[in-house]
Amino acid sequence: MKAVVVPAPMEFERVFVAEIPDPVPGRGEVVIDVAAVDTNYPDFLVIEGKYQFRPPPPFSPGKAAAGRIAALGAGVGGFAIGDHVAVQVEYGAYAEKLCAPAAQCFPIPDGVDFETAAALGLTYQTAHFALAERARLQAGESVLVLGGSGGIGTAAIQLARAFGASPVIASVRAVEDAAIARAAGADVVIEAGAALAPDDFRDAARAATGGRGVDVVIDPVGGAYGTAALRALAWCGRLVVIGFASGEIPDFRANYLLVKNIAVLGLQWSDYRERAPALVARVQADLFARHLEGQLTPVIDSRLPLEEFKVALRALRDGAVQGKIILTLP
Ligand SMILES: NC(=O)c1ccc[n+]([C@@H]2O[C@H](COP(=O)([O-])OP(=O)(O)OC[C@H]3O[C@@H](n4cnc5c(N)ncnc54)[C@H](OP(=O)(O)O)[C@@H]3O)[C@@H](O)[C@H]2O)c1
Repeated sequence: MKAVVVPAPMEFERVFVAEIPDPVPGRGEVVIDVAAVDTNYPDFLVIEGKYQFRPPPPFSPGKAAAGRIAALGAGVGGFAIGDHVAVQVEYGAYAEKLCAPAAQCFPIPDGVDFETAAALGLTYQTAHFALAERARLQAGESVLVLGGSGGIGTAAIQLARAFGASPVIASVRAVEDAAIARAAGADVVIEAGAALAPDDFRDAARAATGGRGVDVVIDPVGGAYGTAALRALAWCGRLVVIGFASGEIPDFRANYLLVKNIAVLGLQWSDYRERAPALVARVQADLFARHLEGQLTPVIDSRLPLEEFKVALRALRDGAVQGKIILTLP
């Protein structure tokens, strides 16, 4: 099979597509003929050895895909050859065939194509857990989503809306990205720009919430954006730390937490995949159901053949993706 192969941690521009042996499923595993790969920001960090989890080389990157089951390992129940599944793994999805634990495969319902199923994977799972599990969002509460035109951003805007949040506020850096966040369902878009002042989010959040501030912040960006967004929180608000697309980890001052009774919460979604697989499966079924009901429609930036994976990685590294880039296989 063809796969993107990382012989050792290295700059992603040096990585290549190679012909390697087909995987053979072990006990409890399935092999999937991959039809669509969901590209994600951490993919280039994994290739370059800068991610918290480093796969043993040689390896293929890629955390999420969708395709047809091609082979079943011993002891696998509930799946048959040819079933359409979405799959979440730590690495290995940038390949024609992917071997994964059956427990990390989720049936794709009729009416959902492979590209949509792949796009409804890691970013939507993360946004769902951030809003529902970590922030305990209640209908009627307000939400501020940073990085509003990105993968997590567009997913979090759509889910916040689907969960009944109001208003849903998003921030984007570039004026041209405001339309993406608005189309995803943001009621108010803050065009934060590069020259972000610490009070920008607070002032915009107050203006959008009748002076209260926001109940929940979803932060996949970090840096100055994360610290500024903390000031936008209302009394008893919650900020969920998702990632650091800005390249900087923010320092949150404990006196802010005390003064307003606010909370900063972390989310490492992959822990739930390992520790709470039944909950992850329920969330995936919920994501598919909400898509079929018209509540969630992944924003697809572009579709590229597997061989053009570097185009996707460059765009992710540069913060230039609007929604998701999907790699397709014949
Ligand atoms: N915690 C978890 O379990 C988990 C799971 C998945 C991903 N993540 C993390 O979440 C983060 C975002 O992932 P993603 O898939 O949404 O990536 P993405 O699609 O590339 O979106 C990131 C967005 O952040 C904004 N951004 C990028 N560079 C920036 C900069 N220098 N300064 C300010 N804003 C910047 C951009 O939005 P605008 O242009 O709209 O401002 C960009 O679209 C990554 O750090 C990733 O590792 C965490």
